[in-house]
Amino acid sequence: MRILVTGATGTLGRALVPVLLKAGHQVRALSRTKRQSGGEVEWVWGDLVSGSGLAEAVRDAEVIAHLATGGRRGRGAVDVTGTRRLVAAAREGGGYPHLIYTSVVGANRLATGHLRHKLEAERLVSESELGWTVLRATAFHQWLERRLNGFESLPVLAVDRTVPWQPVHAREVAERLTGLIDAGPARDEIEYGGPQVLDTEDLVRTWLRARNLRRPCLPVRYPGGLYAAQRAGELLTEATPTGEITWRDYLFPIVELSDDFGSEHTASPTSPANQPEHDPDLRVYGGDEGYERPTRS
Ligand SMILES: NC(=O)c1ccc[n+]([C@@H]2O[C@H](COP(=O)([O-])OP(=O)(O)OC[C@H]3O[C@@H](n4cnc5c(N)ncnc54)[C@H](OP(=O)(O)O)[C@@H]3O)[C@@H](O)[C@H]2O)c1
Repeated sequence: MRILVTGATGTLGRALVPVLLKAGHQVRALSRTKRQSGGEVEWVWGDLVSGSGLAEAVRDAEVIAHLATGGRRGRGAVDVTGTRRLVAAAREGGGYPHLIYTSVVGANRLATGHLRHKLEAERLVSESELGWTVLRATAFHQWLERRLNGFESLPVLAVDRTVPWQPVHAREVAERLTGLIDAGPARDEIEYGGPQVLDTEDLVRTWLRARNLRRPCLPVRYPGGLYAAQRAGELLTEATPTGEITWRDYLFPIVELSDDFGSEHTASPTSPANQPEHDPDLRVYGGDEGYERPTRS
């Protein structure tokens, strides 16, 4: 199939493109940075917020895998305005492609902040009159690791054992997405999470061991309504299948894999993926810096 991937340079996009190519699909990849097409990927320049380049991007696409996000600080510009423009371009193109959108587990239960924008984008997708699928994923290993790396210089880490996480590997999300693309429009929201639920202390201690760091963990209770909801399990899913790669597998890889596509195509300098991150708020994920650690096969 001819597949347009938005967010192709992000964490998930760089995992998805090689999986799609391996499955025999033709991939057109959208970025705000002009890139040379070559090899198996056709690059198109475009910006979801301004709408530039979208008509060309969607031309002849049978599927649009819409992964682009402005992240937590994007204030909905990419997720809401960008999705609205993408839907309009796809409809005007007349080909009525299958639109598959990546959202976040809990977006429907916790419509606040970034998750409110994800839910609004889900609504735009499901009311688009295109064939559609929404895949809601839990936090990616890669995203959590990056957040934890931001705390490396702290002498003590504040951990709340009552806050659970269900991290999933971006490559497994990419494989699930590919299966949903092959299956055709589900006209449904489908959830996908990692294989284990871990509390924050487990998560942090495993990361400390992997980084060979020694830090005391101070037990605390994270304040606020979002953590209360997370504590109540609102960002977890019981959906099956789940991913198989655990947080530990990810942090202690036994087989080093190279990912040429991933290392060559990084997000634009203005991408949320490349902005300095000083926000200690671990609660609402949905954007990443776009790098990949080698993992077990
Ligand atoms: N990260 C997580 O833990 C997580 C968990 C669950 C669900 N999700 C969802 O999974 C999807 C992918 O997340 P990710 O972490 O892979 O994202 P990411 O690494 O932050 O990448 C963001 C992508 O969006 C593109 N983008 C940003 N602004 C754009 C614009 N104005 N026009 C066109 N493209 C734009 C960037 O491309 P260029 O810079 O090349 O233009 C980049 O490829 C998102 O829908 C996210 O909400 C993420």
